[in-house]
Amino acid sequence: MQITADVKYVGVNDRKLDLFEGQYVVPNGMAYNSYVLLDEKIAVFDTVDAKFRDEWLQNVKTALNGKQPDYLVVQHMEPDHSANIFAFTKRYPDCVIVASSKAFVMMKNYFGTDFADKQLTVGEGATLSLGKHELTFYTAPMVHWPEVIVTYDKTDKILFSADGFGKFGATDTDEDWACEARRYYFGIVGKYGAQVQALLKKLSVCDIEIICPLHGPILKDNLSYYLGLYNIWSSYGVESEGVVIAYTSVYGHTKAAVEKLAEALRANGCEKVVINDLARCDMAEAVEDAFRYGKIVLATTTYNADIFPFMRNFIHHLTERNFQNKTVGFIENGSWAPMATKVMRTMLENCKNLQYTEATVKILSSMTEENEAQIAALAKELC
Ligand code: FEO
Repeated sequence: MQITADVKYVGVNDRKLDLFEGQYVVPNGMAYNSYVLLDEKIAVFDTVDAKFRDEWLQNVKTALNGKQPDYLVVQHMEPDHSANIFAFTKRYPDCVIVASSKAFVMMKNYFGTDFADKQLTVGEGATLSLGKHELTFYTAPMVHWPEVIVTYDKTDKILFSADGFGKFGATDTDEDWACEARRYYFGIVGKYGAQVQALLKKLSVCDIEIICPLHGPILKDNLSYYLGLYNIWSSYGVESEGVVIAYTSVYGHTKAAVEKLAEALRANGCEKVVINDLARCDMAEAVEDAFRYGKIVLATTTYNADIFPFMRNFIHHLTERNFQNKTVGFIENGSWAPMATKVMRTMLENCKNLQYTEATVKILSSMTEENEAQIAALAKELC
């Protein structure tokens, strides 16, 4: 696929993957993107997952059309992009590897060699001229690993953005960008909002017309939409108005309270209410929703003098990703010693800027009239 006159897509689609990075379901597969920039000198951007070595090498060969590459730019060392560096150097032994110093240390760890005879180490702001095209490298630590660099080509105004602006799903999938990009973002770099903000600030000097990420589609139109979402996500802002209810229920009593709350929220004019049953939904989807909306209600049972395991796991996902800037309400259930609200609040105590509702709901097995009044009060407060 031709991206500009000089840049070609040579990536691959993975339609057989069960779990991306060992944990994320990808019903529409995954793309491992790679690019070739043909100028007086030729640069290849990143390799692909190990399973696609032969397909990728063939794509590169076709794009090169008999020419030899001069540079392999390694922006990120996670194996979904770096697995074929060694195979590439065997095929093209004269090619120089362009990467950060940290990336070369990782190469030694992965491949037993840091390719000392073919290294070109680039740091913040380093440039590399390919002829007509001049590349500028920016460090992007923790977006998604510490060694990451991104590359700006000022001739074609392309940002090669590494994992940034990526999404789940193969490139031939016709689906909403934001939904799977958000799930990907919060799953993978949600913890590192400050680092993403720092990168966005650095890139604000670049006139970007095309974003070439390492996953998902190449972004060409309406770039302010994608950049705007990245700004909201990385600053932990509220993207959409609405209330998320995340819950677990053992015998259906907590679920009944959740349904009652959803009904009351709608009756109070809250148009968007999202309900996630944490034992059954995709946890990454529930995490994404928690960051997307400004208000969340956590509803769970007391369990082993603690809380139900799916809720514990969910809250851990939130806190390890720097969950902040939200309004939080609680529904707890416990048949003899309810303590779920206390446990949940303790788990959230180090989160910045959380506001707790005054109304809380305490159920002692099944809902009572008093609980219904508590739920009504909680709905009113949230709306
Ligand atoms: Fe797509 Fe962090 O690797």
